[in-house]
Amino acid sequence: LKVIDHIEQVREWVRAHKTLNHRIGFVPTMGALHEGHLSLVRRSTAENDVAVVSIFVNPLQFGVNEDLQKYPRPLEKDIRMLSQCGVDLCFHPQASELLGEDLQTFVDMQGLPEHLCGLKRPGHFRGVCTIVAKLFNIVSPDRAYFGRKDLQQLFIIQKMVRDLNFSVEIVPCPIVREADGLAVSSRILYLSPDERKDATILSKVIKQAAEAPWAELTASELIAQLRKSVTAVASARIDYIQIVDESLEDVKLVKNGDILALAVYIGSTRLIDNYVFGQKLNF
Ligand code: PAF
Repeated sequence: LKVIDHIEQVREWVRAHKTLNHRIGFVPTMGALHEGHLSLVRRSTAENDVAVVSIFVNPLQFGVNEDLQKYPRPLEKDIRMLSQCGVDLCFHPQASELLGEDLQTFVDMQGLPEHLCGLKRPGHFRGVCTIVAKLFNIVSPDRAYFGRKDLQQLFIIQKMVRDLNFSVEIVPCPIVREADGLAVSSRILYLSPDERKDATILSKVIKQAAEAPWAELTASELIAQLRKSVTAVASARIDYIQIVDESLEDVKLVKNGDILALAVYIGSTRLIDNYVFGQKLNF
């Protein structure tokens, strides 16, 4: 595993592999790697000749009151994990290297970011799109891997790639869950043992929705039932529970392929999860 922190050195490495006709797989991350990331990384190493992972805690996607400073940065452990997964290159730039001193160009999508998390976290997806566009331009991957847990992010990146004609295939990957159903995420590290137990309410509500006679209910009836379950957990506070279609617009009646999207605070930690109606649950 080669660890590089300069853009020019990544470009050189990429050029050398392109000359050899190597296909490059890419997983962009903010570090604090967990099984969710590793599932993307393993798929990328399996499906491509060489695998690149970036680790960059992107200040552009954190709001003023969010957790940028306290975001975990266990770099040595991350690098060990990437090395064990057979990753070829880890790009770990400083903010000054990747953002420069005077960034004036941003990828500011209209439409998809004006829903769900985008409404709760103004500027978040502008920060995500801008950094992912920069990383795509530096790494020039053939394929890039994104998890379905951040479903709005996945849809937005797919749209950005279509709209701006990036030459990369976006590969969506399934949500990885712990044995009790909790979707793995870096923010689980913030939960106290009691909060960790309460956090299962997100996957419980997903199960409740999947098992409900949803085709016979209106979306608002189903949402009301789910809200009731979440509200019964003392440490939980609902940020949103919505049922949307693929354009992330609220639906009135639920059909196959619609999405239950939830964001719930457990204590001060905000967790998200989602379920695509009609899909089988594996927990
Ligand atoms: O999903 C993430 O970890 C981040 O949003 C990403 C895609 C690495 C951009 O900073």
